[in-house]
Amino acid sequence: MNGNFKVPTGKKNVYPPARFRFKCKLAFISDLTIYILAPQPRLFIIAAMSENRVIGRGNRLPWHLPDEWEHFHKATNGKPFIMGRKSFEAPDALHSDYRNVILTSHAPSKPEPGIEYVKDISEALALLSDEDDVFVLGGASVFAQMLPLVQRLYLTIVHAQVEGDAYFPAFDQADWHLLSSEFHDQDDAHAYAFSMNLYVRKSPE
Ligand SMILES: NC(=O)c1ccc[n+]([C@@H]2O[C@H](COP(=O)([O-])OP(=O)(O)OC[C@H]3O[C@@H](n4cnc5c(N)ncnc54)[C@H](OP(=O)(O)O)[C@@H]3O)[C@@H](O)[C@H]2O)c1
Repeated sequence: MNGNFKVPTGKKNVYPPARFRFKCKLAFISDLTIYILAPQPRLFIIAAMSENRVIGRGNRLPWHLPDEWEHFHKATNGKPFIMGRKSFEAPDALHSDYRNVILTSHAPSKPEPGIEYVKDISEALALLSDEDDVFVLGGASVFAQMLPLVQRLYLTIVHAQVEGDAYFPAFDQADWHLLSSEFHDQDDAHAYAFSMNLYVRKSPE
């Protein structure tokens, strides 16, 4: 679909200090323009894609990579998730122990505990406005919609050409700093080698 991904070199870097996480919100009251500092969550995508950008096949992952799952759990532990209804219902779906916000136009009338259904992305962000960090879990349609909004990309590249029907959206690597990249080789438990990359969006010039 979108061509092959340029594979990073696998070098390991150090995380920078946490960044200031407030954005300005504008509010207009009468003739006055009031700037209100309001906390906003930082949005992060976490995903794994093959070198030909595949992320799923038949509504499930096309690979089983236990150490990549471990990496996923470490990165997202205790954080809220936003995900599309199909990914949420996938048999191998990963859910937050804390908070799951599901995008759907057909919310069930009796949601389960820890699951919140929203009809669009604005509603999801409003619901999560008091959180510090929120992970966007996919799938393809949600990654495509939310990629422009996220500050970080935890993107694992699975070093294989894989068949599938769901793809990670194309993005310009020039817009992102590669902060770290950890290579994991193929072994008995992992059919493919993979690199766990962390990108941070570059500040506008
Ligand atoms: N490799 C990875 O990192 C990874 C991660 C996650 C998922 N996946 C894969 O991705 C595939 C699923 O992706 P997908 O694109 O088919 O489905 P999806 O994005 O998981 O879910 C799509 C559904 O979410 C709802 N939705 C999406 N955007 C919405 C919006 N703006 N407002 C309201 N509802 C919205 C709609 O639900 P309704 O139809 O209910 O309205 C839509 O049908 C699977 O193969 C899965 O395994 C891979």
